[in-house]
Amino acid sequence: MKAISIGDYRELARRRLPRFLFDYIDGGSFSEETLRRNVGELQTLALRQRVLRDVSGADLSTTVLGQSWQLPVALAPIGLGGLVARRGETQAVRAAETAGIPFILSTVAACPIEEVAAAATQPFWFQLYMIRDRAFMRDLLARASAARCSTLVFTVDMPVPGTRYRDYHSGLAGAAGLGGQLRRVAQALGRPRWAWDVGLLGRPHGLGNIAPLLGDNTGLEDFFAWMRGNFDPQIGWRDLDWIRAEWKGPIVLKGVLDAEDAREAAANGVDGIIVSNHGGRQLDGVPASALALPEIAAAVGDKLTVLADGGVRSGLDVLRLLALGARGVLLGRAWVWALAAGGQPAVEQMLSQLAAELRVAMALTGVRRIADIDSSVLLRK
Ligand code: GLV
Repeated sequence: MKAISIGDYRELARRRLPRFLFDYIDGGSFSEETLRRNVGELQTLALRQRVLRDVSGADLSTTVLGQSWQLPVALAPIGLGGLVARRGETQAVRAAETAGIPFILSTVAACPIEEVAAAATQPFWFQLYMIRDRAFMRDLLARASAARCSTLVFTVDMPVPGTRYRDYHSGLAGAAGLGGQLRRVAQALGRPRWAWDVGLLGRPHGLGNIAPLLGDNTGLEDFFAWMRGNFDPQIGWRDLDWIRAEWKGPIVLKGVLDAEDAREAAANGVDGIIVSNHGGRQLDGVPASALALPEIAAAVGDKLTVLADGGVRSGLDVLRLLALGARGVLLGRAWVWALAAGGQPAVEQMLSQLAAELRVAMALTGVRRIADIDSSVLLRK
């Protein structure tokens, strides 16, 4: 197997993708401080090397929300993720199945639920943004149920989108009309492989799940203006009752970064939370998710399932987030970079490389099972 790191996939994606797509995936909000903190905080967490502990026969599988995962990792919901390769989410869901882990389809994905379901052989997860039009939301949740989605991830850290300057510079944000379109076409022409694979053969473009709301538009014309106009900034804890009435499966809140909110989530009976700052794309200046995680896990880890994301760039980082109290880890940019670099096979390869890294990290910290990973694998607990 060719061993390349997640950072290498990022570099390949940078060369393959038009600027507006690469920067949308890669970027964070404001000065991108939290994005840097997510990565930096994990990498500075020193691991505790142990020796002579018989680390043969390590087992990377685990059980999360009653589901069996072959790796303690899920593919995070990524808006527009499927535009980086032809019908990209259909490729990513198959890669996740090969690896035996969940794929989480974003509300603002390129491929609609039904297309991803047709490509999948197992239930995947669906991520929900609350859009103002509740009749549409009811229909969207019914579509996710009909497609056998097993778990609902309700993203709660985006009542309004964070300001992402890279998207203004690239023309994805704030450049409605012909000007923005011409800039995107010019960027695409500089990436002939993407222009052929996705631009020409990967149509339709745009936001598949919400196409019924968009009329003749793709949603890309001014993506951020669309999100600002349609995401519901009034969402509150009471909306969980509405969701629960429409959705019968497990519900996981994504974007909890504060122990008090985590307690509120537990009190509201959700099945899980994802400790996350949206990959540094929302409120710049908040702590790395790795920094927020231990207090949250201590507060609610016995009441609901705690997952986490943010800054994972290797199997070592997966081990670190588990050591800080997560039961599983979401991988966001990494799968999209791999998808951009080489489609489904590259996502599969990235995941097996990540598994190999985790296996080595477990062996050298002296653990054999995912359930045995705790703060004792870290130098400073
Ligand atoms: C959407 O989920 C985004 O972060 O852009």
